[in-house]
Amino acid sequence: MSDRVREMQKKILKLKEEKNAILLVHNYQRPEIQEIADFLGDSLELARAATKTSADIIIFCGVDFMAETAHILNPKRKVILPSLESRCPMAAQLPASLVRRVKERNPDVPFITYVNTLAEAKAEADICCTSANAPRVVERVKNDGMVFMGPDRNLAWYSERVTSVRVIPVPEDGHCYVHKKFKPEDVLRLKKKYPDAVVIVHPECDPEVQQLADAIGSTSQMVRFAHETDAERIIVGTEIGLIDRLRRELPEKEFIPLREDAVCREMKMITLERVLSALAEERPVVTVPEDVARRAERGIRRMLEVLA
Ligand code: 13P
Ligand code: SF4
Repeated sequence: MSDRVREMQKKILKLKEEKNAILLVHNYQRPEIQEIADFLGDSLELARAATKTSADIIIFCGVDFMAETAHILNPKRKVILPSLESRCPMAAQLPASLVRRVKERNPDVPFITYVNTLAEAKAEADICCTSANAPRVVERVKNDGMVFMGPDRNLAWYSERVTSVRVIPVPEDGHCYVHKKFKPEDVLRLKKKYPDAVVIVHPECDPEVQQLADAIGSTSQMVRFAHETDAERIIVGTEIGLIDRLRRELPEKEFIPLREDAVCREMKMITLERVLSALAEERPVVTVPEDVARRAERGIRRMLEVLA
């Protein structure tokens, strides 16, 4: 890291202390931001961390739905998202009106929203899940062996495979553009090149990619797997930011990205400069209308009761 980066990190840490602020950072953030996190984790861990903090300000280094969730869970704190353009495109794929319509037509089938949704959609559903606890949430709420889940169809496929419950994706083609890039050929090529390597992937990957993996999990579950496995070489099928964390924590192991171009533009819009100015100016603040927040909170709190 350059002197300029170090200087900026120091300024953020000092200001954070003065303002009683906390930095919650997702595993896909830039390495220089990961390094100064108070808490670094996956969506479920960050939601839990947001409920526990007594800091006055939460600087959320992630994307829109994560900051909204933090605000809903801890409305007394000021939640700041350093870049308002950091909107997860998948979260926009499940409008609240679609959840409402599906529920009206199928009142007995529980609707699970992936945490990667906006608060209005969560407000219409029965419960929320993340990639860390989706199968357990499915088991918890299933009715007559069936649930709806949206918007990620690959997470729905994964949850159905693990539980044998029928998990109907809504909409039919919801997906993450970053994880869509991974193809079975990428896995086969790298497995041939590194026959001793193990392959870990995120459940947002296509089923054909998941079927070739040794382990599937949320970003922090992938970190735990990397710590625990005896394998010294690991092929990683998720956004590239996770590899920065893995290399920092396990320098003795080799991490090979399944694709170098697996970059989430929205996550990477947050830079040290933006974190510093957001903290200095205490904006942009993320808010959710009170009635929507309270209805969304039910499903989020139910999700937090389900262990990963
Ligand atoms: P995790 O909850 O596994 O960190 O995933 C969030 C996400 O946006 C994956 O693309
Ligand atoms: Fe959304 Fe995909 Fe980026 Fe995750 S990686 S925040 S699902 S666009």
